[in-house]
Amino acid sequence: MTLARKKAAETMALTDVVIEVLDARLPEASRNPMIEELRLHRQRPCLKILNKADLADPRTTAAWLAFYNSSDQAKAGVKAVALSCKKASDVAKVTGLCQLLAAHRGTHLKPLRMMIMGIPNVGKSTLINALLKRRVAKVGDEPAVTKAQQRVELGPTMTLVDTPGMLWPKIECPSDGLMLAASHAVGRNAIIDEEVATFLADVLVDRYPALLAARYGFDMDGIDGVGVVAAVAKRRGYVLKGGEPDLEKAALTLLQDYRSGVLGRISLETPQSRKLMLRAREEEDV
Ligand code: G4P
Repeated sequence: MTLARKKAAETMALTDVVIEVLDARLPEASRNPMIEELRLHRQRPCLKILNKADLADPRTTAAWLAFYNSSDQAKAGVKAVALSCKKASDVAKVTGLCQLLAAHRGTHLKPLRMMIMGIPNVGKSTLINALLKRRVAKVGDEPAVTKAQQRVELGPTMTLVDTPGMLWPKIECPSDGLMLAASHAVGRNAIIDEEVATFLADVLVDRYPALLAARYGFDMDGIDGVGVVAAVAKRRGYVLKGGEPDLEKAALTLLQDYRSGVLGRISLETPQSRKLMLRAREEEDV
């Protein structure tokens, strides 16, 4: 990762606007602090794309946009937009927004140089393919399919560099690790599915009980995350040889239903939940 970071720092020096792709369902948990560090070091403006907005709770996405487009963030050169990179009409907005952040560039002599960054599986390849309207980057749901940087011309006045998905060495908040695993940004074996599904189920019980009830049809009264996974196993008839419920299979079903969006539009964190989580961590540290 040190080499990838070194390469990213070099490219950053020759970049006018950083396009940071985030997962709209967990924008702060999916934000690699290293990207911020590198871009602030070079004082580069940043377009934050809250991608997969089609899967996120629209009210929460609106709250995140208000947060990122607040004057404090704008002063730090940030502009945010919520998109679905699978929609051509959404992707069509991207270069225009980048141009607003670097009005002095975008000519034949001084092309607008953009650089796409983000953690694995947030949709960087989908975005670049849509920008180019043809397939250049491999799209896949296994994290980290883009291994090396690639530079492409978007026309005579714009260039784009795609960088490999980068995670940071130590994810400080355990809940961030769980949100990332639930959304498949970290690999399949990195965290045990059952633990991730229980975490996800707790969030769903707390914020989206109606979606859980609608999908699986069980009684939500007094149920917690562990209970949800067990209830999914029961409801679906997932049983091990000895007659015990197959919780691993139920965990995978719940995770796949969330990842694919069949459970509904769900956000795992809000600006408020983030603030409370950070405050609780600060109090722990005192
Ligand atoms: P990466 O380069 O950042 O690693 O991500 P990539 O583009 O490979 O996308 C990872 C997965 O996320 C792909 O799913 C892709 O289709 C999906 N994705 C990207 N943008 C969006 C979006 O705005 N909305 C939704 N719903 N999904 C998005 P996949 O299952 O691997 O492939 P596919 O069968 O969907 O093509």
